[in-house]
Amino acid sequence: MGPVSLEQLERPARVGERFLLYRDPERAVVATFGDDVRAGLSASRKHLSPKYLYDGLGSALFEAICFLPEYYLTRAESEILDRFAAQMVGSLDGKIEIVEFGSGSARKTRFLIGETLKRQSRLEYHPIDISASALIGSATALVAEYERLEVIAYASDYFEVLAASRLSTSNRVLALFLGSNVGNYEPEQREALLSAMSSAFKPGDALLLGYDLKKDARVLELAYNDPTGVTAAFNKNLLGRINRELDGGFDLDAFAHASRYDSVRGSVDSYLVAQRGQLVSIDRLGMAVRLSVAEPIHTESSYKFAPEDIERLATSCNFRVARTWTDEADRFAVSLLVIV
Ligand code: AVI
Repeated sequence: MGPVSLEQLERPARVGERFLLYRDPERAVVATFGDDVRAGLSASRKHLSPKYLYDGLGSALFEAICFLPEYYLTRAESEILDRFAAQMVGSLDGKIEIVEFGSGSARKTRFLIGETLKRQSRLEYHPIDISASALIGSATALVAEYERLEVIAYASDYFEVLAASRLSTSNRVLALFLGSNVGNYEPEQREALLSAMSSAFKPGDALLLGYDLKKDARVLELAYNDPTGVTAAFNKNLLGRINRELDGGFDLDAFAHASRYDSVRGSVDSYLVAQRGQLVSIDRLGMAVRLSVAEPIHTESSYKFAPEDIERLATSCNFRVARTWTDEADRFAVSLLVIV
C-alpha cells in the first residue's frame, strides 16, 4: 500500500462533545511505517525516521523527558509562553483560530488558549499530531477544561494535512510550531514544511515558532543523554515498536543510545549503536537486517538555531519575523513569524 490518500483524511469521527477527530486508517499507517523501516534499514548508513518515535509508549516517554532536569527546553519555553502569551495573542488583529503542529499533551498551549478566550467568546483549536493517543488524551482534557473551546483534531503527518487542504480556517490564524519540533527536520524538509505552512494560510496570519538556541555542547549532550535513562528508553522504543508492529526480533539490550552535538551542522544527532554483530529478522517485512558491532542507526537530529538562522528561514518561506521572545537564561526562543 502506498502513502495515505487525501480522501482517507476526509471522514472525521466525533470523539466527544466539541471534539472531532480526523485520523489516518490503521492499515495505511502500518504500511507506511513498514515501507520506511525497510528503506531505512536497507540503506548503507542505517536510519529510522524520528516521526515513528511517537506511538502511545513513545509519546508517554517523551512526556517524561519533558520533566527531566537535564531537558531544559520544555521549561524554558513554558516560561516564555507564561510571561508573554498576552503580547503574542495581542500582536494579531481580529478573531483568532489556533492551529497547532505537533500538539502532544498541549500543556503549553493552554497559556495561549486561555489568553485568546479572554479576548473572544469562542475558539476553534486545530491540533495536528502523528500520535492519535496523545491527541485523544489532550483534546478530551481541553474540552472539559474550556467550555468555549471546540477541537478539530488531525492524527496524521503535517505534510498530509497541509496537502489535503483540510484546514479550512476563515478567521485570523495563529499557527503554533512549538517545542523545537522544527529542529527535528533536515534543512530541506524544514523549508518545505514552513513554505507549506505559509501557503496554507493568508497574509497577516502568523506562526509562533519555538526553537532551541545554539549553546555549549556539554549542556546539549546531557539534555539528550540523561543519567536516568529516559531518553535512551525513548530512543530504544523505536526498535520495540518494530518488534510489536512488524514482528521484529530486536534485542533492545543489544543496543546503546548515543547522542553527539555536531557544532558545524548545529545538530544533536541521536543513534542506536549495535553492541554486537547480529542478524535481526523483521517477519512482517520478510527481511533480515545485518548489523556489525558498533554500527549506528541514526534515529533523530535535533537542530539548534541562532536568531539569524531563523531570519533566513523565515524570509525564504514567505514569512517575516515580527518579534522574538527568549527565556531569562537565553536558552530558548519563540518568534512570531507573519505571512507576507
Ligand atoms: C520533540 N523534539 C523537539 C525533541 C527534541 O528535542 O529533539 C525530541 C527529543 N528527543 C530526545 N529528547 C527529546
